[in-house]
Amino acid sequence: MGQTLPKPGLRPFLPDDVPLLAAIFTASIEELTGEDYSEAQQQAWMEVAEGEEFGKHLASDLTLIATIEGSPVGFASLRGNDHIRMLYVHPAVAKQGIATMLVDALEKLAAGRGAQSLIVDASDTAQGFFAKRGYTAQQRNSVTVNDEWLANTTMKKMLGAGQ
Ligand SMILES: CC(C)(COP(=O)(O)OP(=O)(O)OC[C@H]1O[C@@H](n2cnc3c(N)ncnc32)[C@H](O)[C@@H]1OP(=O)(O)O)[C@@H](O)C(=O)NCCC(=O)NCCS
Repeated sequence: MGQTLPKPGLRPFLPDDVPLLAAIFTASIEELTGEDYSEAQQQAWMEVAEGEEFGKHLASDLTLIATIEGSPVGFASLRGNDHIRMLYVHPAVAKQGIATMLVDALEKLAAGRGAQSLIVDASDTAQGFFAKRGYTAQQRNSVTVNDEWLANTTMKKMLGAGQ
């Protein structure tokens, strides 16, 4: 806490990134979501990274990777032109602007693809982050993930001129 990170960078996803992104995914769920989800829910959520679909979705969505000194520390993906599907930051660098950098970039890419608004099914952990950026809650959802029910909130932001 409090120390300044070397300047982070952004780059596109490559197929070889899948194991590292799976590790960031599981570490961020394990260490950052414990106040919002039970251990059983966290476990079910982390197991998503073990399926083949995990890498396939990262490849078929527009996935961006945040790096520090060349090493991945977080990632985010855009599905179609208007849906943020994933946003995960390694706990070692949380609260230092990495997700902000990733979502700034996705918002610009979405606007560039012609989207007028951007939608995210935000975890309870990420809801405050998205609210701060101007996303507003549309509806609460319960989704099944590996036989556990997890709540999230569909949130939406209008992409105005200048995005
Ligand atoms: C949500 C998450 C992506 C935020 O990443 P991050 O890199 O820590 O976020 P940032 O540092 O860019 O935060 C930007 C701002 O949002 C705030 N913020 C971050 N997490 C927050 C939270 N859980 N609740 C409220 N505000 C939050 C920060 O304090 C910061 O505010 P500031 O600019 O006034 O200092 C990260 O906590 C995470 O990976 N969580 C676990 C996985 C998850 O839930 N992913 C979302 C799936 S939809």
